[in-house]
Amino acid sequence: MPHPQTRSDGVTDHSKFLVTGGAGFIGSHLVDALLARGEPVVVLDDLSTGRMENLSRARRHGRFRFVHGSVLDAPLVDELVSGCDRIVHLAAAVGVKLIVEQPLKSFTVNTKGTETVIEAAHRHSRPVLIASTSEIYGKNSSGPLTETSDRILGSPSVSRWSYSTAKAVDEILAELYRREYGLNSTIVRFFNTVGPRQSPAYGMVIPRFARQAVRGEPLTVYGTGQQQRCFLHVNDVVAALLSLIDRPESQGETFNIGSDEEISILDLAARVIGSAKSTSTLQRVPYSAAYGPGFEDMERRVPDTTKLRAFTGWRPQRNLDDVLADAVADARREERMVVAGPCPA
Ligand SMILES: NC(=O)c1ccc[n+]([C@@H]2O[C@H](COP(=O)([O-])OP(=O)(O)OC[C@H]3O[C@@H](n4cnc5c(N)ncnc54)[C@H](O)[C@@H]3O)[C@@H](O)[C@H]2O)c1
Repeated sequence: MPHPQTRSDGVTDHSKFLVTGGAGFIGSHLVDALLARGEPVVVLDDLSTGRMENLSRARRHGRFRFVHGSVLDAPLVDELVSGCDRIVHLAAAVGVKLIVEQPLKSFTVNTKGTETVIEAAHRHSRPVLIASTSEIYGKNSSGPLTETSDRILGSPSVSRWSYSTAKAVDEILAELYRREYGLNSTIVRFFNTVGPRQSPAYGMVIPRFARQAVRGEPLTVYGTGQQQRCFLHVNDVVAALLSLIDRPESQGETFNIGSDEEISILDLAARVIGSAKSTSTLQRVPYSAAYGPGFEDMERRVPDTTKLRAFTGWRPQRNLDDVLADAVADARREERMVVAGPCPA
């Protein structure tokens, strides 16, 4: 759909967007895309996992503003929400490793932070798009998973399921505010998303494999490596987000966003080695060594994206080879920067 355009939800063209978590991986790509369309953007980010380098292009833009702060700061969130037309709420504690290592902080940011954003959106009658996750489905390995598939969770004492539960609380809050107060909210459930700027530090498998392959180190495969996953390029995720933002009929709906190109982690490791033309070998690591005792994983996680496709006509434009080529190029770029060291002042 061309842009600028007239929208039927009363939101004017060139809406001013508040993107929480906009210095992060997905957020910074969305910010670049919104700015490219001419939309003014304000980013609220505490830089806990996000990086200012991710916003180096955005910061050169006259319609961009960065606010260093937390979604837990209710007065700040209220002020920023009141000054914007629409909100995309991406700020969260993300990544299996981070969630396992800092469970309380993660749970608080992912519940209270979202509640703060939703309350402000309600107070100021602003449409809000909220990032949820495929972790919602827990251990349901029956795939392809539709938006109404069951959640199958282990004990709440397992940190991974507390992340899933926190995001479920966010979804429920958004839905209840919508039903009881008419909040204009849309939920997106991201499945594994990959691409440039994704940090390898918090347990994301492709950036980790790409860096290990580029350095010639063994690729560390957790568990049996038979677990099946799908990976969508971040540019395709951003395209899906923009098409939902542009469609008022997405209001009140929940959408899976992911790839349906399935691969086992062992095969993925081999593909990364091939893509990087690396001599790396594979090294199996038990889950307990990677994440501590009691870690639980699911055999298979595949989205059904029929609903997103039907609502928006969205189709992914990149396949797994494209995803891996980008991840390897990103890893090489980072390696060169490490070798070259910081620029002289
Ligand atoms: N990348 C994926 O594969 C994936 C999968 C499922 C869900 N998600 C969801 O997508 C969203 C974006 O994730 P991402 O992959 O870009 O991760 P990311 O870590 O790169 O981005 C999250 C951003 O939120 C910021 N942040 C964290 N706590 C904050 C706080 N209290 N106040 C303000 N900012 C804060 C971080 O600094 C970071 O910039 C998250 O809500 C995440 O749960 C991502």
